[in-house]
Amino acid sequence: MTDHLAATRASYDAAAANYAEFVEGKLEGLPMMRAMLGCFAELVDGPVAEVGCGPGNVTSYLTSLGVQIRGIDLAPRMVEIARAAYPELVFEVGSMTSLALADASLAGVIAWYSIHHLPPAELPGVLAGFHRVLSPGGRLLIGTHAGEVEHRQLSEAYGVPVSYESFIQPPELIVAAIRSAGFTITAELVEPGNKPGRCHLTVFAQKD
Ligand SMILES: C[S@@+](CC[C@H](N)C(=O)[O-])C[C@H]1O[C@@H](n2cnc3c(N)ncnc32)[C@H](O)[C@@H]1O
Repeated sequence: MTDHLAATRASYDAAAANYAEFVEGKLEGLPMMRAMLGCFAELVDGPVAEVGCGPGNVTSYLTSLGVQIRGIDLAPRMVEIARAAYPELVFEVGSMTSLALADASLAGVIAWYSIHHLPPAELPGVLAGFHRVLSPGGRLLIGTHAGEVEHRQLSEAYGVPVSYESFIQPPELIVAAIRSAGFTITAELVEPGNKPGRCHLTVFAQKD
């Protein structure tokens, strides 16, 4: 494991309990997010993996919409919390940089607010991995922070000391990378972010 991944994992292990509290019930106040997740639930037809699932709240929401989904997260403590909160669902420790999933084994992949932790040079390889595990016609949904290029090294998050990085990229670069990985972009939504120069990007894509 690279130093970068190890630092991200240790940070989210440390922040897991506070992060789970932070996101609990949040979707109820986010109608656009629920709408995007609802569209994905209607479009996808078969098994789905959520990569970077954190404490499993989005995994659980998609399950409630009828999606057959499992969660995968880098941080073992996140996975423990998700398993405890949703014992009926499957959660595994793993990294989106090396998915232990068979080729063409999924109908859908969702990465919800997790790809901003990837150094930009790693994004193409991760997207190629998503493409590999999807069957033809499979759906990809990515939601992420985007905006003016910014590299942040965080030392505190969710009330605890951390040492993870966050990489903000312009929406058009992220969309171009998804296209370059072999996907057709079927929809994209850009919403204002929570600080100047930032936005929220949601991209729906499909493997040909
Ligand atoms: C901001 S949280 C988002 C969690 C959840 N998707 C949500 O929307 O609440 C980012 C999550 O991505 C996970 N993560 C970061 N890098 C990852 C990687 N390479 N593979 C899998 N998970 C990763 C972190 O452990 C963390 O749980």
